[in-house]
Amino acid sequence: MKLLIPGGAGYIGSHMVRYAQEHGHEVVVLDDFSTGHDWAVRDCEILNVNLLDHYKLSQLLKGRQFDGVIHFAAKSLVGESVKKPAMYYRNNVIGTLNLVNEMLNNDINTLVFSSTAAIFGHPVTDKIAEDHPKNPINPYGQSKLMVENMLQDICLANDFNATCLRYFNAAGAHESGEIGEAHDPETHLIPNILKAALSNESNLKVFGVDYSTPDGTCVRDYVHVSDLAQAHLLGFEYMQKYRGFSAFNLGNGDGFSVFDVIKAAEKVVGKSIKYEISPKRDGDPSVLVADSLRAVSMLGWVPSFKNLASIIKSASNWHKNFEDAKV
Ligand code: UFG
Repeated sequence: MKLLIPGGAGYIGSHMVRYAQEHGHEVVVLDDFSTGHDWAVRDCEILNVNLLDHYKLSQLLKGRQFDGVIHFAAKSLVGESVKKPAMYYRNNVIGTLNLVNEMLNNDINTLVFSSTAAIFGHPVTDKIAEDHPKNPINPYGQSKLMVENMLQDICLANDFNATCLRYFNAAGAHESGEIGEAHDPETHLIPNILKAALSNESNLKVFGVDYSTPDGTCVRDYVHVSDLAQAHLLGFEYMQKYRGFSAFNLGNGDGFSVFDVIKAAEKVVGKSIKYEISPKRDGDPSVLVADSLRAVSMLGWVPSFKNLASIIKSASNWHKNFEDAKV
């Protein structure tokens, strides 16, 4: 397939690009490099454009043919979205609408959309399946839900197919150790733990210890970024059989608290990791654990990284390379 990958220079996007290339597909990356990295993509054409630049986007995509689009280009930090909601709605909703308009203009009708567990809000069941009520508690989740709803309507009205993949907590790095999670500033738990492990002056913070969870810290379902990439390609096979709109939740189905993750990381790196307790972060639900049975049965998704230690180990290999390269 020839795939257009907006956001292909970002964390999950760059792993998708590698995975698609490793599976014999041709990739064109579209990115504005606002949070993506040029070192994260190779062996492909790159279209440097922001999705909000409607004119440039339309010029760049005019007459181009792709078998499908995998769309990652978005703002994705819960805390930031609470502080800057307009930026999230503009980038995530209007940006996606611009992209979909250009797809419709150029007769490109197959999309895999990067969605999130944040569309669900506070869980009302132990594990979150696709039909769980959707009540996002932050603008990030709200913006992704708005896009899902928009895509559903577009699929109904046009010859258009969209598969939304709702990631739980993406983690880990490519097995080559060449690409991994590098945000600036870094807000995610596993990279922050590994950065603390690699430096002597740890400033790791644990955000909230009075959640209604067994040890008081938030519980999340960590899923390897290469396993997420696998699901996207399966999404295209699925859409050949089942046209229109569909959605799948992607996680391993096991919940780990912040303290569980710190303990698992200590075993992986072989040393203790210092942290301090901080106030809760805005917009964080206490527990998010996926029920991914639908992805397993309908997509044929078979994640390879089933345990937390293997996910942390792959992240740790990359972090070590990345920190060494900076010295
Ligand atoms: N955390 C810390 N210290 C840190 C970083 C995070 O204690 O330095 C805690 C957070 O408060 C949270 C957990 O670790 O309880 C995981 O936080 P991350 O920032 O790694 O990930 P999030 O759970 O915030 O984000 C994920 C996905 C989003 C999704 C969100 C839903 O990355 O796409 O879950 O809330 F929207």
